[in-house]
Amino acid sequence: MERDSRASMRYSTQLQDMNHLDEGVEFLPAMNSRKVEKRGPKRHVVVAVLLVVFLLISLTTGLLIWHFKSVDPSLAHSSRDNSCMFSLHAKEGQVTSFTTPGFPNSPYPNNALCYWALRADASSRISLTFKTLELEPCRDDSDYIKVYDSLSPAEPHALVRLCGNYAPSYNLTFLSSQNVLLVTLVTNKEGRFPGFKAEFFQLPKMKDCGTRSYVRKSRIVGGQNSDVGEWPWQVSLHVRGQGHICGASLVSDRWLVSAAHCFLPLQGIRYSDPSLWTAYLGLTDQGDRSGPNVQSRQVKRIISHPSFNDFTYDYDIAVLELQSPVTFSAVVQPICLPDATHNFPVGKDLWVTGWGATAEGGTGASILQKAEIRLINQTVCNQLLTDQLTPRMMCVGILTGGVDACQGDSGGPLVSVEPSSRMFLAGVVSWGDGCAQRNKPGVYSRLTSLRHWIQQHTGL
Ligand SMILES: *[C@@H]1O[C@H](CO)[C@@H](O)[C@H](O)[C@H]1NC(C)=O
Ligand SMILES: *[C@@H]1O[C@H](CO)[C@@H](O)[C@H](O)[C@H]1NC(C)=O
Repeated sequence: MERDSRASMRYSTQLQDMNHLDEGVEFLPAMNSRKVEKRGPKRHVVVAVLLVVFLLISLTTGLLIWHFKSVDPSLAHSSRDNSCMFSLHAKEGQVTSFTTPGFPNSPYPNNALCYWALRADASSRISLTFKTLELEPCRDDSDYIKVYDSLSPAEPHALVRLCGNYAPSYNLTFLSSQNVLLVTLVTNKEGRFPGFKAEFFQLPKMKDCGTRSYVRKSRIVGGQNSDVGEWPWQVSLHVRGQGHICGASLVSDRWLVSAAHCFLPLQGIRYSDPSLWTAYLGLTDQGDRSGPNVQSRQVKRIISHPSFNDFTYDYDIAVLELQSPVTFSAVVQPICLPDATHNFPVGKDLWVTGWGATAEGGTGASILQKAEIRLINQTVCNQLLTDQLTPRMMCVGILTGGVDACQGDSGGPLVSVEPSSRMFLAGVVSWGDGCAQRNKPGVYSRLTSLRHWIQQHTGL
């Protein structure tokens, strides 16, 4: 975008650097030629050593040039005074200000390269505002400020380049995406201008979860098919040679939440072995697993709750770590985890999704299915299910039957749209007495009662 006139200085500096190194390269053989003559028999050794030295120098030169190419060209030369460097850390609940040297009584220095490295606590972002800013009027080679969304002045991280001055109504507020920002001031050899006064503070990073960025409307009308991108945290867990076995929910770029019973041994197969499993993300149609937006990952670890009881299905929860992190995209996003104190009220409508059987004893669906169901009073449900409920379980369904999770949905998400319009994981599909039968609601692992355990193992 911007053709920086100082780019020419980079080339001259590089030439100088290379000349130095060229001299060095030529110098070494000349120095050692006498030794070479003296120790005739070891000539080849010396030649080999010189060759290695030459290669090392070439490599270093190459790396240096490569390094400087990747940073802002105007910052790559060393002829300027580098004493103008400041490092500032945001104080909790406080605004920190900083100015150009001498502001406002004397002009900022000429021929200067100034850095202000701004830092904030981990899991915060920085909001930076220039309160006043008056630099040399903008020209190709005029003084300028750049703000980088990083501590490295690399061009891809540059947020803005500022020169001249701005009307007070002009918005000069910039937000970092992580907990650092870098402000640089590059000045030429002339001009007397006041400079700037800026303020910054830290703000908590917004939890980025539970939102869908993109829903492609499917052509299928009616029915319970999901649209592409509608449930971007939905994971399909496949076992080699058997296809889709269980569902799971993406809760960060490398952790999934699922049900412990998915990993019970069955018919001589150790399903707790992570190497059997592949997780598919960004998937809507099981027949389209090689689609361009689908990400598949091997599973590195499966941690089932140690108190899981395979008779009562109490503590039916597991967390899975992926071999490598997924890349968030329009169709791959994590779901928010609720706090342990979060209350999902009785009667709240929730969504369950999965590729499970669409009828009891039927086969799995190809397109991800969705169903809207309601949270049922625990006491009432415990009576319907003859005292089989524990505090780690919750009942969700429609008591008249007809809508429920079924085989193959196990481990999948039960989500709640919260007032913030974000979606939260309320439960994990666990068990049911049949599917969608009258007065037999589905039973889900209650996320809030298992929240601490998830936190212990995933740090989330
Ligand atoms: C100024 O810009 C920042 C960052 O781009 C933005 O967050 C803020 O809302 C803007 N303020 C005004 C008053 O437009
Ligand atoms: C559930 O139902 C029982 C008995 O009908 C009632 O006493 C209780 O208050 C209800 N609980 C909630 C949370 O609505």
